[in-house]
Amino acid sequence: MTVDTSALDAGRSGSFKIGGEIAIHRLGFGAMRITGAGVWGEPEDRDEALRTLKRCPEIGIDFIDTANSYGPDVSEELIREALYPYDNILIATKAGFTRPRAGAWKVNGDPEHLRTEAIKSCDKLGVSQIGLWQLHRVDPDVPRDEQFAAVKSLIDDGIVRHVGLSEVGVDDIEAAAKVFPVATVQNLYNLADRKHEDVLDYCDAHSIGFIPWYPLAAGELAQDGSILDEVARAHDASPSQIALAWLLARSPVMLPIPGTSKVAHLEENVAAADITLSAEEFAALDAAARAAV
Ligand SMILES: NC(=O)c1ccc[n+]([C@@H]2O[C@H](COP(=O)([O-])OP(=O)(O)OC[C@H]3O[C@@H](n4cnc5c(N)ncnc54)[C@H](OP(=O)(O)O)[C@@H]3O)[C@@H](O)[C@H]2O)c1
Repeated sequence: MTVDTSALDAGRSGSFKIGGEIAIHRLGFGAMRITGAGVWGEPEDRDEALRTLKRCPEIGIDFIDTANSYGPDVSEELIREALYPYDNILIATKAGFTRPRAGAWKVNGDPEHLRTEAIKSCDKLGVSQIGLWQLHRVDPDVPRDEQFAAVKSLIDDGIVRHVGLSEVGVDDIEAAAKVFPVATVQNLYNLADRKHEDVLDYCDAHSIGFIPWYPLAAGELAQDGSILDEVARAHDASPSQIALAWLLARSPVMLPIPGTSKVAHLEENVAAADITLSAEEFAALDAAARAAV
């Protein structure tokens, strides 16, 4: 596999309008991996993390996903250090977790917490309004409507512009959509993990951006001799590049955000925007992935 780093352009992944308004290139960047082990504290190589962030706009990435809980705060702080004032880059953040320690996550949908954290994210990122803010989880211990009302108040008060949900079912999206427009949904989805297929189809039908997290995973399909391996060889590409190309081909609302702490991996991931799978390749990968499940 060779990557021509002089010709990379995430713009070739196509574009999508968040909330029908903010145009972004579909292949973005996930900023969870620019933190320390267990998504806690500073990254092992801070300079490389900053270089990775600064490389994003140079190669056409204008959509970066983060969260208050990544670090916590560390990811947002590094994004600001590297990219402020975000010339035509949409920084999407989230709240809905507290972090007791490295590797530990506690869902917290308390309305006061959500509001305080959204305001803190504005402060950390240095913006007066967050372009896309996502409810990281719907907290099962807090009435859903109270969480949605808190989110609506963030929109009404101008703290956030557009809102997304994360790890939700169609029922949650429909309930939330009665309270505020749902711009995006961020669920676990990749070639090997397709349990949210119904949510993706719903998003597709309603022009809601679908942000698949853990997009590079391909499970046992990535093994030597598999169909994924075969297609990767045919395109002089890596299996993870083909997994990204497959996601991009799967739906026009698909907005993958592969995450890395390294410039070389970022460049390799963006090169996937140049891979066009044939209809036969797409179908063969789809069938193999479904059979593996
Ligand atoms: N909403 C949610 O609940 C949720 C949950 C998890 C993640 N997310 C978001 O989704 C984003 C992506 O998910 P993810 O980070 O879990 O999964 P991912 O992007 O599929 O995979 C990231 C992992 O793959 C490695 N990697 C990346 N590019 C590579 C390459 N070209 N070659 C080899 N290894 C490579 C990274 O390590 P290196 O740093 O060594 O490259 C990292 O360990 C996150 O950054 C975050 O923004 C959201």
